[in-house]
Amino acid sequence: MDRLPTHVTLVEVGPRDGLQNEAAPVATADKIELVQRLQAAGCREIEVTSFVSPKWVPQMADNARVMAGLERRPGVRYSVLVPNMQGLEAALASRPDEVVVFGAASEAFSRRNINCSVAESIERFRPVVAAAHAAGLKVRGAISCALGCPYQGEVSPEEVERVVALMKAIGVDHCGIADTIGTGTPRRVQAVMARALRHYPLVELSGHFHDTYGQALANILACLEMGVHTFDASIAGLGGCPYAKGATGNVATEDVVYLLRGLDIDTGIDLEALVDAGAYVSGLLGRAPASRAGRALLARRGVALP
Ligand code: HMG
Ligand code: MG
Repeated sequence: MDRLPTHVTLVEVGPRDGLQNEAAPVATADKIELVQRLQAAGCREIEVTSFVSPKWVPQMADNARVMAGLERRPGVRYSVLVPNMQGLEAALASRPDEVVVFGAASEAFSRRNINCSVAESIERFRPVVAAAHAAGLKVRGAISCALGCPYQGEVSPEEVERVVALMKAIGVDHCGIADTIGTGTPRRVQAVMARALRHYPLVELSGHFHDTYGQALANILACLEMGVHTFDASIAGLGGCPYAKGATGNVATEDVVYLLRGLDIDTGIDLEALVDAGAYVSGLLGRAPASRAGRALLARRGVALP
């Protein structure tokens, strides 16, 4: 562990991945307040919302209003998910800094999540990437089910690499390896990252680990050992995908920041303020934060949790 990165970039995905999975509507003003609190805590990359079909994900239907209501801070990058040209065109009016196209390493999940095959998704993304670049935006690509699929089961590193290469071929700038259902374990994660590194440099590779099986922090440490230094994380451990049965929340940002602080790795994020943001959103949703570090730090302050 003597050659770990000294700085890690965390992409806060709670407002998008976290809230998209909530069945009860969350008020637009509360979503905006969450983003304000996250940026006040030092988050510099925030995935705010998604421009997907409101029939598929009703919780994200207020995408444009959330984006319009942000008090943007210099130095913070605001990103949004876009599945197709219609999504990109709507997103552009909201002036994101970055857009995210999302594909899958498994055919079955691609069909369930975005209603097309993997090959068709790449053809849909091709003009999205070109138009986003023409508008001066960076494009991240997320590859779901890179460590297992709720419909197909096992997904091989070869299958993941195939989609990584397709994303690269259409000009996607950054590759996010996503463990949608949290089944991955460290050696397997390293094998997948090694495949992705054949196509993307370390600086444009990231991990997105749902914590369903409690493996996310171990997987992040395994990535750090390889030099991977960008991770998605979700405040209070919120999250999941409505089209991935059994998927629970992402790794909690508070837990990742606690881990990294213990390793002397800088994130620029204030853990105590982050814990406050986690308590805020958990309060909105009427539950205790799923973050272990968040709960422990709140308990130390004497806060009674639901
Ligand atoms: P479709 O039904 O095949 O789309 O859905 P279509 O092109 O045939 O259009 C049908 C209708 O949808 C039309 O409306 C379009 O206007 C509308 P109608 O004429 O019926 O009134 N439509 C749209 N509306 C708003 N925004 C759009 C849009 N596109 C079409 N962009 C589609 C295809 C991709 C749209 C749909 O399947 C969809 O929205 N899927 C999104 C699912 C989703 O958001 N999943 C969660 C995010 S991914 C995730 O969580 C994984 C990740 O975290 C990584 C990981 O953990 O794995 C990133
Ligand atoms: Mg996710």
